[in-house]
Amino acid sequence: MGAILSSLRNTVIAGVVMAVLLFIVLTQSGVATTSYGMDFWAYIFRYLHVGSGVMWIGLLWYFNFVQIPNMSKIPDEQKPAIGKVIAPAALFWFRWAAMATLFTGLVTAELSGHYLVDALLLGTQTGGHAVIGVGIWIAIIMWFNVWFVIWPNQKKALGIVTVEPDVKAKAARTAMLFSRTNTMLSVPMLLCMVGQSHLA
Ligand code: HEM
Repeated sequence: MGAILSSLRNTVIAGVVMAVLLFIVLTQSGVATTSYGMDFWAYIFRYLHVGSGVMWIGLLWYFNFVQIPNMSKIPDEQKPAIGKVIAPAALFWFRWAAMATLFTGLVTAELSGHYLVDALLLGTQTGGHAVIGVGIWIAIIMWFNVWFVIWPNQKKALGIVTVEPDVKAKAARTAMLFSRTNTMLSVPMLLCMVGQSHLA
C-alpha cells in the first residue's frame, strides 16, 4: 500500500481501478443497470466533467481562500517558493482543468439531451434546459477569463514573461481581480450546474 500511496501516479491509477471495479460490482450484482448506449456515455462524460470541474474550482478556491490572502504573511525572501514553484504548478492544473471542464461539459450537454445550441439560446427554453444554459454561459465566461486574462497576466506577474516592474505589478492586480471575479461567478454557476436536474 505504501508503494502505491507514496507515488501520485500510482495513487491516481489505484483510484481509477477502484472506480472501474466498483462500477462492475454495482452493475453485475444487479444493484444498478445501464444500457451501454447514449445514456452510459452521458454518465461517463458527466463523471469526467464533475471531476475536472472539482480540479478547476478547487484550485480557484485554493488561490482565493489560501494563497492570495496569505502572501503578505510570507517574508519576501521566501516568496519565490510560491511564485516560482507552487503557483506555476497550480496554474498548469488550473488552466488545463478549465479546458477539460469546458470540453466534457459541452459533450455532456449534447449527450444529455440538452441540445447545446438550444440551451445556449437563453429565453427559448424553460426548466432544466434553461437553467443549464445560464450555468454554461457563466462557466464559459469563467473559462475565457482563465485562458485570456488570468493566465496571460500571471505569466507576466510570475516572471515567466519578462516585463517592466510597473507592468508586472499591474498584471498581478488584473490577474487577482479576475480570479476574484471567477470566485464570485462560481457561486451562481454551481447553483445552475446542480440545479438543472432539480428545477423543473
Ligand atoms: C465550462 C463550461 C461548462 C459546461 C459547458 C458545463 C456543462 C454541464 C452540463 C451540460 C451539465 C448537465 C448534465 C446533465 O444533464 O445532468 C453539467 C452538470 C454539472 N456541472 Fe457543468 N459545465 C461547465 C462548467 C462546470 C464547472 C466549472 C463545474 C464545477 C465543479 C461544473 C460542475 C457540474 C456539476 C456538479 C454538474 C451536475 C452533475 C449532475 O447533477 O449529475 N460544471 N455541466
